[in-house]
Parts: sequence; structure tokens; C-alpha cells
Amino acid sequence: MALLNLLECAVQTLPNDLDTYWMPFTANRQFKQAPRMLVAAEGMYYRSRDNRQILDGTSGLWCVNAGHARPEITETVHRQLATLDYAPSFQMGHPIAFEAAAKLRALLPPPLGHVFFTNSGSESVDTALKIALAYHQVRGQGSRTRLIGRERGYHGVGFGGISVGGIPGNRRQFGAQLPGVDHLPHTHNLAENAFSRGQPAWGAHLADDLERIIALHDPSTIAAVIVEPMAGSTGVLMPPKGYLERLRDICTRYGILLIFDEVITGFGRLGGHAFAAQKFGVTPDMITMAKGLTNGAIPMGAVATSDEIHATFMAQPNQAAIELAHGYTYSGHPVACAAAIATLDIYRRDGLFARAEELASHFENAAHALRDAPHVIDIRNMGLVAGIELASRPGQPGARAYETFVRCFENGTLIRVTGDIIALSPPLIISRQQIDELFEAARNALEAVA
Ligand SMILES: Cc1ncc(COP(=O)(O)O)c(C=O)c1O
Repeated sequence: MALLNLLECAVQTLPNDLDTYWMPFTANRQFKQAPRMLVAAEGMYYRSRDNRQILDGTSGLWCVNAGHARPEITETVHRQLATLDYAPSFQMGHPIAFEAAAKLRALLPPPLGHVFFTNSGSESVDTALKIALAYHQVRGQGSRTRLIGRERGYHGVGFGGISVGGIPGNRRQFGAQLPGVDHLPHTHNLAENAFSRGQPAWGAHLADDLERIIALHDPSTIAAVIVEPMAGSTGVLMPPKGYLERLRDICTRYGILLIFDEVITGFGRLGGHAFAAQKFGVTPDMITMAKGLTNGAIPMGAVATSDEIHATFMAQPNQAAIELAHGYTYSGHPVACAAAIATLDIYRRDGLFARAEELASHFENAAHALRDAPHVIDIRNMGLVAGIELASRPGQPGARAYETFVRCFENGTLIRVTGDIIALSPPLIISRQQIDELFEAARNALEAVA
């Protein structure tokens, strides 16, 4: 661990100006009173500004699935920057983008055989929603303009994403959003499902609410349903057994596209497979992804579409016309593509999706061992992700989990909290011993907070 060698790293000083940078999804004023700064990373660890080693229990922000500072990615990115730093992707091509798409396709469940590149999860979501609307228009069903999301869903922060998303705090500041959006009920139910391991037994029938929404609006008006197969950002909600299958069945019956937002679940998080679609054996019409696509090293996202969706666009009569009026300056950015190729090679070569599956039962047992820890009212898990829900301190929702997070950081472990739920999602390279350390750190913090 040369990078973490204390002799090598000078203690970093705080930047003089903490004020100018407006931090995302952060209580800026609170943070700047007592900043938590990370200055380096390698493998399973960050290094803090004050030179402490911090165990990464969250893969950064659910993205560093192969562990930090992988030399294979660093070197490939470096080489690519020196060879072709940027090239436009509108009416021009560069081979590495085609190579990255083909490599990604090899991981996708058929018939998802085509890939549109974006730069983030939010862009992937907005892209998928736009593809859904345009697809129906191209095939002569332009009345299908409604989009269905789900309560507690997180689909990023674009206007499309917050509209179909179902996290009230992410919506309330931003006006009316997209029209013609409805929401399925969320699937969280502590009375029925607390302390489930893997998929909870109760709740498949909640998918039937889609029938009610379809009847209300008429199927001819509905373009797509978008859900996270496992709702991540809201606090790790596993799909009830049979739930996704029912959604798939209803969508198919009514000609509605089903989109799985796999920005978090993609690239092995649930163990055994690249995508949750494969884990659950339910194939959507589109998958949105980002994060683990490049191991977090370079921003990149993608939308995978079915062959049928792609073929519908390509069957438009005018060969000289642009089939989909959509794209980003940095779609298929050569450096991002290089990072993706190197990342996907690591996943394959190191067998990281299988590794996540091998570690899953150890991780599950370590998670559920917290059942008797103070404040814990639920634990849920699959693969290398766990949600630990705490009873809220009366009148102070979120405070207990936030204090747990701060305490963990002070003691050398990075966890993530959302409301009063702790979400743990370490890199897939984590060892059994580090899994034990991670949950031990959570227990110690829980025992210390009021
Ligand atoms: C399911 C899901 N969709 C979309 C996003 C948004 O991704 P980004 O922050 O890269 O825009 C996230 C981010 O956590 C996510 O979890």
C-alpha cells in the first residue's frame, strides 16, 4: 500500500476558500464548519486529509465496484488521453466507442443489444424516457406519452428523473415537473417484511397497482414504466418475490416499455451477475446504468435498449435522417470509453460478480448480526448491499443516522446514510475480514449515538 504509506503523504491543509464551491446534496453550512475531506484512495481505502485510512463501505457513491485506483484503468485512461483526448460523436465516430459498446453488450441480457452513451445516471434516465416517447411516436403510437415511476424511486436529478422519481425531498423545490406522470406505490413494509434476507416474501401484489393506473389513464396513453429493480438511494428496498415478474407481465400485455434503472444495481452489486435483470430473471426493454461502468473513474452512463426498440428507429424510411434527435457533447467520450473498457476487463478477469456472490452469505450474516444493535428496526440485504434502518429520534428524523455516519468517519469507516437508513455497498474486492470490520464499525457507532 505504497500510496497509504504515512511517510509518503504530507498532511494536507484545508483549502483557504471553502465558500465558493457549492457542494451537491450537502448541508453546505454544516459541512464547512467541520469538513470531511478525502485526499487519496487505493483498493478498499480512502485516505483523509488528516492522514487517516478510511475503509470504503460505500464504493464511493455506489460506483467504485472494482476498488480504488486500479492501475489498469489509470494507465488506459492516460494512454487514451495522450492518443485521442476528445472527438465529436455527432456524425463522426472513433473506434473506441464502438469497442466499448460491444464490450458492454456482451454483459447484457438478450435482447438488449444496443447501447446509447451518456455521462451520468441522470442523463441515462432522461435518455431512456426520451427513447421511450420517441419509440412510440416512430411506430405510430404517439398518444403514448405518460410515464410511470414509483414512490421512493430515485432516478437522478434531471427533470425527467425527478418527475418519475418518488423522493419528496428531491421534488418539492422544483415546481410542476413533467406532466402526465403517475407513480406506483413503493414496496416498503416493516410490519410484513422486517429483517428479510434477500427478496421479501410479501408484496408482489403491489405490482398490480399498475393495472389500476393503466385503467385510469387508458393503456393507449402510457409509454413506459421505470423502476429500480432494487431501490437503492431511498434506503435499499429489495423487490418482493414475484413483483418484478408481475410488472413485466403487465407491461408486456399493454404494450408499455419497462425500464430498469440499474445505475446502482449494475455491475455486480447484487452478486453473481452484471445486472439485476439477470439476477431476478426479468428482462426489461431498457436498462439505464452509470457509476460502475467506469468504476467511477471517469463520468459515464449508458442506456441499453432492446433490439426491437433499436430496429424500430432504424426502420424509419429516410436513411439520411437522424433517427433519434438526442445526444451529449460527451456521449461516447474516448477517455470514458477507455475507462469503461478497462473496467469491464477487470470485472471479467477478476471474476468480481461471482466474487460478490461468494461473499454474499458472509455479508448477509454480518449485516443481520446487527439486529440486536441499538436503534435497529430493520436489516435488508442482497449480494454486497445492505440497508440498516434505525428508529428515528423523536422530532429529529435523520439525526441518528447522520451522527452514526460522522462517528464512523471519525473512526475510520465510510458509510452512507439516507434519512435514518444506513446503506452499505463496499467494493466487490472487499475481504471477509474487512466485511467484519465494516459491520463492527457500524455497531460501535450505533452503540455510541443516543
Ligand atoms: C437508480 C439511480 N438512477 C439514477 C441516478 C443518478 O445518477 P447520477 O448521480 O450519476 O446522475 C442514481 C444515483 O445514485 C441512481 O441511484
